[in-house]
Amino acid sequence: MESARILIADDDKKTRDFVAAFLSYKGYQVFQAGDGQDALEKIELNDVQMVITDIMMPRINGLEFIKKLKAMRPEIVTIAYSAFANYEMTANLLKAGAFFFLEKPFNLEELETHVKRGLEHQTLQRQSFKAKPCIKNRSLLNHIIGESEKMLSLFEMIEKVAGSDSTVLIQGESGTGKELVAKAIHDLSNRATKNFVPVNCAAIPDDLLESELFGHVKGSFTGAVATRIGRFEMADRGTLFLDEIGDMKPNLQVKLLRVLQNKELEPVGAARTKKVDVRIIAATNQNLEHLVASKIFREDLYYRLSVIPIMLPPLRERKSDVPLLINNFLEKFNKNKQRKVQSFDKSTMDILCNYDWPGNVRELENLVERMVIIKGSGTILFNDLPEKYRGIKSAGKSEQLTLPDSGFCLNSAVEDFENRLILQALEKTGGNKKEAANLLNLKRTTLIEKLKKKKLLFNDASFSSS
Ligand SMILES: Nc1ncnc2c1ncn2[C@@H]1O[C@H](COP(=O)(O)OP(=O)(O)OP(=O)(O)O)[C@@H](O)[C@H]1O
Ligand SMILES: [Mg+2]
Repeated sequence: MESARILIADDDKKTRDFVAAFLSYKGYQVFQAGDGQDALEKIELNDVQMVITDIMMPRINGLEFIKKLKAMRPEIVTIAYSAFANYEMTANLLKAGAFFFLEKPFNLEELETHVKRGLEHQTLQRQSFKAKPCIKNRSLLNHIIGESEKMLSLFEMIEKVAGSDSTVLIQGESGTGKELVAKAIHDLSNRATKNFVPVNCAAIPDDLLESELFGHVKGSFTGAVATRIGRFEMADRGTLFLDEIGDMKPNLQVKLLRVLQNKELEPVGAARTKKVDVRIIAATNQNLEHLVASKIFREDLYYRLSVIPIMLPPLRERKSDVPLLINNFLEKFNKNKQRKVQSFDKSTMDILCNYDWPGNVRELENLVERMVIIKGSGTILFNDLPEKYRGIKSAGKSEQLTLPDSGFCLNSAVEDFENRLILQALEKTGGNKKEAANLLNLKRTTLIEKLKKKKLLFNDASFSSS
């Protein structure tokens, strides 16, 4: 096999020559560039597979260079190094697509380890995209609703990667559909007839997660009354879905990395290892790059997991899908709950299309379910919506009222506005009515009168004193 072609970009000729000499000695074909601009030109000429770059360079610095390179040739693996490392720089580099960041001075053997790992990562990625797209049955994706551009490219991605056995890392805010996508990848894969086993790493206590994942032998710890197989083995020849992977503790991260590398595991208390054939799909709603930069999540595990990274868009970035989602959920809940709600009227639909959906699809699904149950039949109007959706945007942002075409009631909107400000004042002052009244420029007695009238006096001790 031809040796890999690597370009080294550094304005410091001494370092550059030193690294180049070492990598040539190790059998790689090495090219050199004096800065980012020079590197961009040489990459095209020499068809390189990997770039190793310094960060502080004239003309185009390392970060800008990596951004340009990733836009131009995303498949090229990049390792960056600098003597001035900090959290922000590491996070920015990873976000820009760097494969690894090394702090100077580094040891050459260490560099070689990352070079090998980077090239292996590239091969795995290439194989995943080359694997036959699994167009088993696109209808298996029908329940993932969306026809915005972002969703269409997501469907394409799912089909492309399902056929390979590569590890997938799904990132996205809460409620964006990570589990739904993980299951779809499994269903479209050649492992579909075997188990899809989900594990929520955040929900299982740290001291139990290891045995939950790898199993244990009888008597290996207090409470281990019988030998039990772990979720890895349950998922043998199928898919293991490691949800909330960002919450996994460092000691377990090491063990997981070992299983991924060696494809064998060691049940707690067992003397022997066991072979497993499991495809891993991991997911998190945390920013894993930030966790890596702050050294909470192992960088080597992150690369192992993110062979195929999939980023799910938040609903606010694909608002054109809101009506489609609403109508699908309406149909589903009418059927499940035996109700006959026909539609959301246009102005209500408009309001929901303009809403930011911090809870994403899950929030929208819950809202539709609630509306279907409460309303039961007919059309959902503006006044049927819970307060927070009725035009006044969430606190903190500029409060803007959108007047719908119908169904609006000025008195109830004003009342709602007043209630919220009163509640906010009470919250800010820890329930102290005198201070809350001062904040609202009201007499204390007037505030109490209003609270009584509005039935906003709570039993809650924090609001009933003073
Ligand atoms: N594109 C979609 N089409 C239809 N339903 C969806 C879509 N995305 C999410 N949902 C629904 O929204 C709910 C949340 O989805 P899911 O559990 O997959 O989200 P998640 O990203 O894993 O959330 P969390 O981070 O909170 O675990 C589920 O009921 C799911 O069926
Ligand atoms: Mg989830």
